[in-house]
Amino acid sequence: MNKIKKIFQEEVACLIDAVKNGNNPYHTFSLSTINNDYPESRTIVLRKFILEPFKIFFNADYRSQKVTQLRDSHNCTALFYDKDRRVQVRCKCIAKIHHNNALSKKVWDNTALQSRKCYMGEFPPSQELQSWNPNIPKEYLKTDPEKKDSEKGYINFTHIELEIMEIDVLQLHHDGHIRFKVDNSNKYSYLAP
Ligand SMILES: Cc1cc2nc3c(=O)[nH]c(=O)nc-3n(C[C@H](O)[C@H](O)[C@H](O)COP(=O)(O)O)c2cc1C
Repeated sequence: MNKIKKIFQEEVACLIDAVKNGNNPYHTFSLSTINNDYPESRTIVLRKFILEPFKIFFNADYRSQKVTQLRDSHNCTALFYDKDRRVQVRCKCIAKIHHNNALSKKVWDNTALQSRKCYMGEFPPSQELQSWNPNIPKEYLKTDPEKKDSEKGYINFTHIELEIMEIDVLQLHHDGHIRFKVDNSNKYSYLAP
C-alpha cells in the first residue's frame, strides 16, 4: 500500500501544480456529464484542487449545457491524462453549482478582465446562430472591458465545485501497469489494470 500512497501523493502534487501551470497536462481535464441518458464530455480548465476533502473547482457560463446537465444530475466524471508520465486520473464526482452567491462573487472578484468578457456574450452558449459570432461584445474583441462594464458578466458566471467520491489512478509501465482507487474516506484498493 505504501507504493500506491506515494504514487497518489505525486498525482495530488501534480494536480495542485496544474492549477497555475498551463504547461502541466492536468491544467485541463475532460468533464463528462449526463444529458438525459447520453454522456457529454468537454474540455475544462482546472481552477482549484483541494485534498481534504477531495474537491475540484472550475468556472463556466451559467447558461451553458454543462450547467443545465449538472443541475439535472449532479453526478459527473473528471478525467485527466499526462501523456509524458503515462498516468490517467479519473475522478467520480458530485457537482455543486455556485451562482450568485458568496463563493461565486469571491472568485469573480479575482477573475481577470480578459476572462470576464467570456461571460458577456448575448447568446447562451450552444445557441444556433445564423452566421459566425464570437459571442463576446464586439468592442472587446481586441481589448478588455473596463472593470465597471465587465460586471455585466457576473450574472452568467458560475463557479462549480466537484466533490470527489473516488479517484481511479492508472500508471502505465512496459513491465506491468499499476492501477488503484482511493475513496473519500482515504481507503486505498488495488485494481486490475
Ligand atoms: C482548452 C479548453 C479549455 C476550456 N475550458 C473551459 C472551462 O474552463 N469552462 C467551460 O465552461 N468551458 C471550457 N471550454 C469550452 C468547453 O470545452 C465547451 O466547448 C463549451 O463550454 C460548451 O460546453 P457545453 O455545451 O457542454 O456546456 C474549454 C475548451 C477548451 C478547448
